[in-house]
Amino acid sequence: MQIAIIGSGKVGSAIAHSLSGKGHVVALGVRDPMAAKVAAIADATGATVADPTTAAQGADIVILALPWGAAAAAVATLGDLRGKIVIDCMNPLGMVDGALALVLGHTSSGGETVQDWLPEARVVKTLNQVGAEIMADTAALPGRPVMFMAGNDPAAKEAVAQLLADLGFEPLDAGDITKARLLEPFGMLWINQAMARGKGRAWAFAAVDRHGAQGV
Ligand SMILES: NC(=O)c1ccc[n+]([C@@H]2O[C@H](COP(=O)([O-])OP(=O)(O)OC[C@H]3O[C@@H](n4cnc5c(N)ncnc54)[C@H](OP(=O)(O)O)[C@@H]3O)[C@@H](O)[C@H]2O)c1
Repeated sequence: MQIAIIGSGKVGSAIAHSLSGKGHVVALGVRDPMAAKVAAIADATGATVADPTTAAQGADIVILALPWGAAAAAVATLGDLRGKIVIDCMNPLGMVDGALALVLGHTSSGGETVQDWLPEARVVKTLNQVGAEIMADTAALPGRPVMFMAGNDPAAKEAVAQLLADLGFEPLDAGDITKARLLEPFGMLWINQAMARGKGRAWAFAAVDRHGAQGV
């Protein structure tokens, strides 16, 4: 797959590292293609570097790894993403009453908002439920961590499930894009454990089935 990662911070670089050598062609879409930190990621992963629009236009899958507050403006510069798979791994975070919190929820979500911005793209919400360190290296865990995804297009979710498997996750389909309303608070649960409860960042959620259990 041709994959564009828009944003090369903690999440963007983690995904680039984890996808390296797994048969995908990865382009980093960045504001400053000459930045030394971007060159270092490209050198280490084999990714190419471009401006965000060029990277997105050349890709089958566009991964949004941007701060929520910058996302609307950044997405508006990416050009026509009709038919493309767009992975939204952003948590719609902001300060609420002096604390880090979701600024959307219950009746909407970041995932639905991204689908509204890009009505003809096939948005899949996922990769928002663990820290970037886990995304970079799932092999250090004793078992496969689970990663839920939500989106309206079954074929897009099939392609994303394969990508999640390549990243070392067990993909689980949570349903249509409205289920981002479940996945974003679930991401907050990880953040709360990591940052407020002292669990740290070196863990992930797993789905553990009883022997012989069948899905429905
Ligand atoms: N960090 C985690 O563990 C984690 C886990 C799950 C989900 N998330 C979510 O993933 C998203 C990214 O988080 P992060 O921790 O990777 O953030 P980050 O380290 O701050 O990186 C953000 C990236 O976005 C780029 N950027 C900002 N504004 C932009 C614009 N207008 N156009 C193009 N690029 C722009 C930045 O570019 P410059 O380098 O040029 O500033 C930077 O590369 C957030 O929504 C977060 O909620 C984070």
